[in-house]
Amino acid sequence: MSNKLGMPSRKKLHIKTFGCQMNAYDSERMAEALEPAGYRLTDDADDADLVILNTCHIREKAAEKVYSELGRVRLAKARRRNEGRDTLVAVAGCVAQAEGREIIARSPVVDIVVGPQSYHRLADLVAEAVRGGKGLVETEFPAEDKFAHLPARPQGKVQVSAFVTVQEGCDKFCTFCVVPYTRGAEFSRAPSEIVAEVKRLATRGVREITLLGQNVNAYHGRGDDGADWPLAKLLRRLAQIPDIDRLRYTTSHPRDMDDELIALFAGEKKLMPYLHLPFQAGSDRILAAMNRKHTIAEYEETIGKVRLVRPDIALSTDIIVGFPGETDADFELTLAIARRAHFAQAFSFKYSARPGTPAAKLENQVPEEAKRERLAILQSQLDSHRHAFDRDTVGRKLPVLFEGRGRKPGQIAGRSPYLQTVHIDGPETLIGEIAEVDIVAAGPNSLTGVINSGFEWREPVQAAV
Ligand code: 5AD
Ligand code: SF4
Repeated sequence: MSNKLGMPSRKKLHIKTFGCQMNAYDSERMAEALEPAGYRLTDDADDADLVILNTCHIREKAAEKVYSELGRVRLAKARRRNEGRDTLVAVAGCVAQAEGREIIARSPVVDIVVGPQSYHRLADLVAEAVRGGKGLVETEFPAEDKFAHLPARPQGKVQVSAFVTVQEGCDKFCTFCVVPYTRGAEFSRAPSEIVAEVKRLATRGVREITLLGQNVNAYHGRGDDGADWPLAKLLRRLAQIPDIDRLRYTTSHPRDMDDELIALFAGEKKLMPYLHLPFQAGSDRILAAMNRKHTIAEYEETIGKVRLVRPDIALSTDIIVGFPGETDADFELTLAIARRAHFAQAFSFKYSARPGTPAAKLENQVPEEAKRERLAILQSQLDSHRHAFDRDTVGRKLPVLFEGRGRKPGQIAGRSPYLQTVHIDGPETLIGEIAEVDIVAAGPNSLTGVINSGFEWREPVQAAV
């Protein structure tokens, strides 16, 4: 739609993002794809011409949230209609992929359903809906590469730390997980495309890059010369970009944690000492039923190797309690490995049966009450480890990358190498800079520091894997 000057007329777009960082990345790309059609982002969902819910299907609760949100959107749409204004509603993300047309059947307020592999079609779908098209559903897995068709980020955004999706999808088929069905087979972006995106980000002031993938360490890009690029090679290449000071990656699978990648924690100074490596369950019997294809001993061997080259590494993990057939004794094994590994950070969940996954069909489902109890016990143990890790950094001097304002006036906040949030009293001119900070206190969710001029950041310890 154009105004008299032939310019696209201004329309308001609201995107609500659920779930993982990959969805957050996709939401940014969707906003950019709709810019040429005149859509500008607004925080006000009730006043938007187009509302996109970018959904998550990983656990039942996440999927149900979408339908309660659609209830709210329906009311806003009715209100706007009374004022003579129209509202388009799109559901994107993994619920869109998994449920497709069902969403419109259950929630007729929805005009567009678009799966994660079809975002390059979004602008066309919206144009069709504006012309009066109804019930538009796009959930194919097209042969073309969606990244090649999504626009680059616009100029002018101040961003210190950015996510870059390098890999999508998963071929592992853990029996509890919907990702292989909603995000499809493993796909890696070309290294040249990623390098170009990171260089662009660097020129705009980005100092830290987190590479994203459902199975990021399974990354295998194809170089322009046809050579295979594993993640370690990509990280080494990105580390050569001068203005990029920090690199991270997430999420990894234990089976793809190869020695070259582990060695990088010692050999590449820009790679931050933080590793998110889910183990899911402490019992080998449950791990086998989950189709994780590794044992607990193998997991511990891997984190042992990582700690050998980088003793100060902050380890993070995902854990599921109450997988079908999990006994109290199995759960004790989960508590035991969590105690031994002493995670700096952890995300733990009650198992939730996802339609279409093999584990959902198992008969020995664990009662809700037992899941709740196990989760509470596990989380209190994990919390105490996280606090212990944070307390151990008190008294140390750490380089902090400042990302923005802090909680109180005069404060700024940033991240330590271990991904801890650090607050200091300091000038906003430090935002976008890395400064040495003396850590003086550890709160429940963040650290407090004072700015200091000395530089005593410890070099990574070199050792063979
Ligand atoms: N139930 C509970 N947790 C799950 N996760 C994935 N699928 C399920 C499920 N069906 C968790 C895993 C995964 C994280 C992203 O979400 O721990 O690593
Ligand atoms: Fe899901 Fe397993 Fe793939 Fe992770 S590795 S995305 S848990 S199937």
